[in-house]
Formats: sequence, structure tokens, C-alpha cells
Amino acid sequence: MVETARPSGMSRPRKLYVKSYGCQMNVYDSRRMADTLAPEGFAETERIEDADLVILNTCHIREKAADKVYSELGRIRQMKADTAVQGREIVVAVAGCVAQAEGAEILRRAPAVDLVVGPQSYHRLPELLDRAKRDGKAIDTDFPAEDKFNFLKNPTREAVRARGVSAFVTVQEGCDKFCTFCVVPYTRGAEVSRPVVKILAEAEHLAQAGVREITLIGQNVNAFHGKGPDGTPWTLARLLHRVAEIPGILRLRYTTSHPCDVDDSLIAVHRDLPQLMPQLHLPVQSGSNRVLAAMNRRHTRDDYLRVIDKLRTAQPAIEFTSDFIVGFPGESDDDFRQTIKLVVDVRFAGAYSFKYSPRPGTPAAEMTDQISEDIMSARLQELQALIDRQLKAFNEASVGKTFDVLFEKAGRYPGQLVGRSPYLQPVHVMATSDLIGKVVRAHITETTAFSLHGALSDTDNAAPRSSSLLATAEA
Ligand code: 5AD
Ligand code: SF4
Repeated sequence: MVETARPSGMSRPRKLYVKSYGCQMNVYDSRRMADTLAPEGFAETERIEDADLVILNTCHIREKAADKVYSELGRIRQMKADTAVQGREIVVAVAGCVAQAEGAEILRRAPAVDLVVGPQSYHRLPELLDRAKRDGKAIDTDFPAEDKFNFLKNPTREAVRARGVSAFVTVQEGCDKFCTFCVVPYTRGAEVSRPVVKILAEAEHLAQAGVREITLIGQNVNAFHGKGPDGTPWTLARLLHRVAEIPGILRLRYTTSHPCDVDDSLIAVHRDLPQLMPQLHLPVQSGSNRVLAAMNRRHTRDDYLRVIDKLRTAQPAIEFTSDFIVGFPGESDDDFRQTIKLVVDVRFAGAYSFKYSPRPGTPAAEMTDQISEDIMSARLQELQALIDRQLKAFNEASVGKTFDVLFEKAGRYPGQLVGRSPYLQPVHVMATSDLIGKVVRAHITETTAFSLHGALSDTDNAAPRSSSLLATAEA
């Protein structure tokens, strides 16, 4: 039996510890779970040792990500045994894509787990905690008919403030693309777009509580087709223009995009909307047409390059990041060379690269010509070294430029603030804390491995909202 929390005059506030693995959607979902449990008497803690309820919000995208969860559950089992001796019971919940993919198997493999909840059932958490208390264990991996977003609670103003000036808003979830390597269509389900009015209400609430930058997120965000207030489906382009009108919103981003869904209206937004940052994460996975076809990516290498060209024409300051998989089944040396060549041709401002990881239930896991670990390691090393050089070159080229910086929080040293450039690079500047939440021009003087250092530009500190948010060379 497990003890769960209910607000009560007798009991101390229960503590909730949520750990997110994987993508930004999980970070967002973790917050919505915490917001939904707050009225149930749970206050968030950053220390797992203090927690009455631990939620691991898991990722199933690669085997390594899923394995991490089980090693964490091993540690938690020990902690749970120790605290039980002291008379304190900890409830352990597994949420996210491992929960969806493995369901009851988790309860068998990890006896410390009391509750398993899939991504479409988070609104049922209070009820599931009751069920776990009553029955000892609870599991819900349904794709319910009701929309969880209608039941999840919004954050309080205090919670929004504590989380900072930049926030995510889910506009679309799930994926219908079925790339042959990917578990997402199975764990997150079919593509569903949220209605525009709901998205706007959430964005307005965040803006009123102090959020200045919104990143619209979705597994396939540019396939967004949510119902507009007029009853017709809106494109992501139209949504971006509308969110930009919300008072207080200074910056917009969206992620993650599929190259096939970058239409002309979206390209035009990069030209026309100064609030939209000139930075785009556009996964390509491989530079070889043969591999792209085997991956069922539905685009060729040239299709991808054409999209990049069109975006650069529309917005010359735009920079790209991407995702790559090396060692997809059947990938030859020549295929891999094509990937290297694509990276050289595009010149990315950074990228994630992964060894192919066979995922149960996906078509690629059944393919016969799996690539050896040695070959994958060598290819990953070569690709990462190239991407690292491009990232370094990009950061070094920032020195001497002036960026608009959105200040987020105090830096490590007294008197220092940290903000983000339009390209998401952390920028460290000596500045007073009243600039947090403002976009201010800074002259970049130095670069270290992952961040920039600069000084406030002498003139025109507070960049007006409509000003260009792009880098301008000051040479
Ligand atoms: N193996 C390796 N990497 C994968 N990704 C998705 N599925 C797999 C897999 N089976 C990578 C892709 C995707 C990113 C989120 O994770 O590059 O864009
Ligand atoms: Fe996975 Fe492909 Fe959908 Fe991205 S587009 S979530 S890689 S199936």
C-alpha cells in the first residue's frame, strides 16, 4: 500500500520531485503535471531525498535513454527502502514514452514503481494516485477520448515566474510520418493539433505572468492545423502571427519541424515577423537519398537543401541546427560520405548526432543489414568532430557583432546576467537585474566553448519591440 497526498490541515505539504528525460515536450509535460498536482497539495522540490512523490518523465527514443530510467529506478528502490525504515513512504510514478511503450512491464521489472502513466493520461494523475493508494499499483496507458489539455491545470503566476521568462507551449502532439527508425508515432500517437483559442489563452496567461519568449512545440510542429476561432484550420504561420500580437511577447520560436511541412507561408513568416528568431532546428537525419528513402523520410537531400535555400533567401540571418542518425541499417561508407558532404554544404550552427538504435516495434529494427558498433562509433566521431568545428566557427564569428539579448537570470558572478542571443547562445554580460525579461543590445567580445561574453552596448539599451532582432556587424 502507498500513502498519497491530499491537502489536510494535519499533514505537511507533500513534496513532488519530477525528473524529465529527453525532449522539450517532456519538460513541458512535467510542468503541466506539477501544475495539476499543486491543487492536490503537492509543492515541487529539487531534492529527490525530500520527495513524497517522485515522477520520472521518461524518453524511449533510443535504447540508452530508456536504460537510464531503469538505473535511476534502481537507486530509487534503495532510497524508498531507506525512507520506509524511517516510517515515510515514497510514491514512485513512471510517466512519458517508456511508460507508454512498456506499460505493465515496468511494474514487473522495477518493483519500486507504484504508478505508470502514459503521455495522454496526465490529467488523470490525481485519480491514479488514489487508485495506487487503494490497490497498491495503478496503470493508465490509454489514448483517452477526452483531451487532456481540457483538464490539466494552468501554472500559478508564481510558478510561471519561478520558471523564467522563456516558456514552451504545446500546439501539436504526436506524429503521422512513421519514419522507420522512430517510436514517436507509437508512444505519442497520431498527430493532434490543439485549438487556436486554447493555445492563445495559455500564451496570454504566460505573458501576463512575465513570460517574454514563447517556443511553440510539437513533435511535428509545422504540421500544425489547429481549429481557428473561425472554425477553419490555421497554419503554423497564421498562429505565429497571432501569438506575436500578444502584449509582452518579444520573441517566438517553434520546434521541431519536418522538412516536408515547411511551406511557403512558414518561410514568409521568417521574412515578415521580427519576433520570430532567425534560428531553426530542422532535422535531416542523413545526407544520402538511399538512406532517406529507407528511413521513409519522404524527402530527398535536394528537397532539404532547397528548403534551406528558400529560408536563407527569405531571412538572410537565419541559422540552422539539425539531427543526424549514423549507422542506419544498410548505411554504406558512400552514404555516410553524403551526410558529411551535406553538413559541409549547409554549414550548421550546431547539431545533435546519434548512433542508430533499434527500437522494438519499428520497421528499421527488423531490417537485416544492421551496422556494427565499431563502424557506428567511427562515423559518429567523425560527424561530431565536424559539427563541433562548425559550432565553434559559428560562436567565434559572433565576436565583434551586436546581438539583441533576452536576459533570463543572474549569472554566476555578482553583477552578471545571463541571457540568450537570437541563436540561443548563452550570453554573459555585466548588467543590473532590472534587465531580466528585457531584450537589450550587447556587443559580443569573447567566446568560450558553449557561451558568449559581452558588454551592454552604450546607446539605445532597451531595444524596442519592433526593432530588428538580428545580429548586425559592427566592424
Ligand atoms: N536511433 C537513433 N536516433 C534516433 N532518433 C530518433 N529515433 C532514433 C533511433 N531509433 C533521433 C532522430 C530524431 C531525434 C529526436 O532522435 O535524429 O530527430
Ligand atoms: Fe519520429 Fe519521423 Fe515523426 Fe520525427 S517525423 S517524430 S523522426 S516519425
